[in-house]
Amino acid sequence: MKRILLIIISLGVLSCTQKENIPVEAYEPNIIPQPVSHEHTATSFVVFSNINLDMKTDDPQVQTFISSFTNFLSDAGVTTDANASDNTMSISLNETSKETLGDEGYDLEINDKSIALSANKPAGIFNGLQTLRQFFPADFQFDETNKIALKGGQISDYPRFAWRGLMLDVSRHFFSVEDVKSYIDKMSQYKLNTFHWHLTDDQGWRIEIKSLPKLTEIGAWRVERHGRFGGSRPHPKPGEKATYGGFYTHEQIKDIVQYASDRNITIVPEIDMPGHMMAALAAYPEMSVKKEKKFVAPGSKFSEWYGNGRFKMLIENTLNPTDEKVYEFIDKIFTEVAELFPGEYIHMGGDEAYHGYWDADPKVRSFIKKNGIKDSHELQSYFVQRVEKIISSKGKKTIGWDEILEGGLADGAAVMSWRGMKGGIEAAKLGHNVVMSPTTYAYLDYTQGDHSVENKIYADLSLEKTYSFEPIPEGVDAKYILGGQGNLWTEVIPNVQYAYYMTYPRAFAISETFWSPKESKNWESFIDRTEAHFERFDAENNNISQAVLDPIVRTYTEDGKMMCKLTNNATGTDIYYTIDNTYPVKFGIKYTEPFVVPKGSLSLHTQTFRNGQPIGRQLKIKREDLTKRVERKERVLIAED
Ligand code: ACM
Repeated sequence: MKRILLIIISLGVLSCTQKENIPVEAYEPNIIPQPVSHEHTATSFVVFSNINLDMKTDDPQVQTFISSFTNFLSDAGVTTDANASDNTMSISLNETSKETLGDEGYDLEINDKSIALSANKPAGIFNGLQTLRQFFPADFQFDETNKIALKGGQISDYPRFAWRGLMLDVSRHFFSVEDVKSYIDKMSQYKLNTFHWHLTDDQGWRIEIKSLPKLTEIGAWRVERHGRFGGSRPHPKPGEKATYGGFYTHEQIKDIVQYASDRNITIVPEIDMPGHMMAALAAYPEMSVKKEKKFVAPGSKFSEWYGNGRFKMLIENTLNPTDEKVYEFIDKIFTEVAELFPGEYIHMGGDEAYHGYWDADPKVRSFIKKNGIKDSHELQSYFVQRVEKIISSKGKKTIGWDEILEGGLADGAAVMSWRGMKGGIEAAKLGHNVVMSPTTYAYLDYTQGDHSVENKIYADLSLEKTYSFEPIPEGVDAKYILGGQGNLWTEVIPNVQYAYYMTYPRAFAISETFWSPKESKNWESFIDRTEAHFERFDAENNNISQAVLDPIVRTYTEDGKMMCKLTNNATGTDIYYTIDNTYPVKFGIKYTEPFVVPKGSLSLHTQTFRNGQPIGRQLKIKREDLTKRVERKERVLIAED
């Protein structure tokens, strides 16, 4: 990683310290997301052991944001006493709003003596501070004999979209309060402002509902299983203790809500219904059609997937939409959820609800007939409309996965488009607000690198593909697109560090897509800046995927021969390979064009280099695996889409 330091501590601006007249190299910032406008100047701000903090506002939220920034400085050995030095950092809220900046934008000016940050609203100050943090090197510690300087310039910056989010599934894997906070803290550094908290699913109910205590007494716990999720994990055995899990108490949730708010983040809680309810039904089986006793799913297989969105639940995991008691149950849940979360939206899920148990039940069928409902699809729409009324009775707006659109949706409800963009397009055309999070660009659980070195899940999504995401489809009125988010489902994510690995750097691409102007998106610039942020994660001992530095291996047939094509989308890289079972690859062949894979029992070894140093992982792929790739598009690349 040292090579990146060499690049980023550039020979750019030199500045002199007043005290010693020693030139100080200015650190070259690599800002993610890319600001709207950034003009560089020839000056730079030398960081001394004290910065004079000139607070021109006493707004309490700004005070909170500033105190976390001053903590960062004091951890690095820089104090911020007023009047203690002539290097000043001023913070102000505009007396007259600057229209272009909106609620979250800011102006930041850095010159030789001062840093000036101003915004219309506290949120803008928060975002400006995140940019300013990136003007400091990754592992910044003040050193009297080796000072750093912040590169001078002027930034005027504001977001393209109001909703810039990440979703974390805490049901499949239970993340501790500390884990959740750390995930929130990290996303806030990249100006992501919406944390969608997927709190309930078949594998665990994670939110305390005081009026329905069994939801957490029973629903939060499952028997512990390891191994492939949905594969060979066995169901619970009779009498087996449920020991894996946990939930968040009201006090913990209030603490996390405050923690998020201190980082300009709104939390959108999701209670997924009518499907994905097995954990709740383990506690209250009477809320289902068959009312049979169930267990909290430990990742054992209870569904079959046939492609094209068709599936079957082998165990009932759906609420009974024809039972008034179910709506009383839902009312109790949303009463407490609405009290805990101050944001305007509550997410009601709505995805992948299996209707088979509804269709098979005579009482449900007679309800359908009596109420003039066409079929079970319309019955789901009836359910969604009832739930939407409950949520709005608590003073909140409803958002749900794009299935909630089927059969008509109340005005004011918003749609989260996940099965591609089509649900979002349809919803926007009907005048609903939309959050774009399609599997094709935004599913952060999908495999991001070569299968020979990654933990496989059911689909692939490269950083390049995520970066190519344009959330406003042709012909759609942009005013309906609130923004978008990346979604991290956690079936194969057993801890927070692996959650980081899967989230980043693709969340950088999400951040830049939803913050920066469409015209300023540029892959080469993005990947160079991303590499500088690998340093930041390394310095904090946080996991981040560098899969983008690995070779991309494609095979195809030409004139009856298997050909191999190697590419890599980072800048300034060379790819080396061997195809004769020899290594290290460094002494192999420098890739220039597709080559024939000879017959025989052999493996391809390949790796990416820059300036003669290896940068990616060395991949080893057996010939039989290369053969399997011939017909399969292994990774989706922007260059070839
Ligand atoms: C989803 O991925 N089932 C919303």
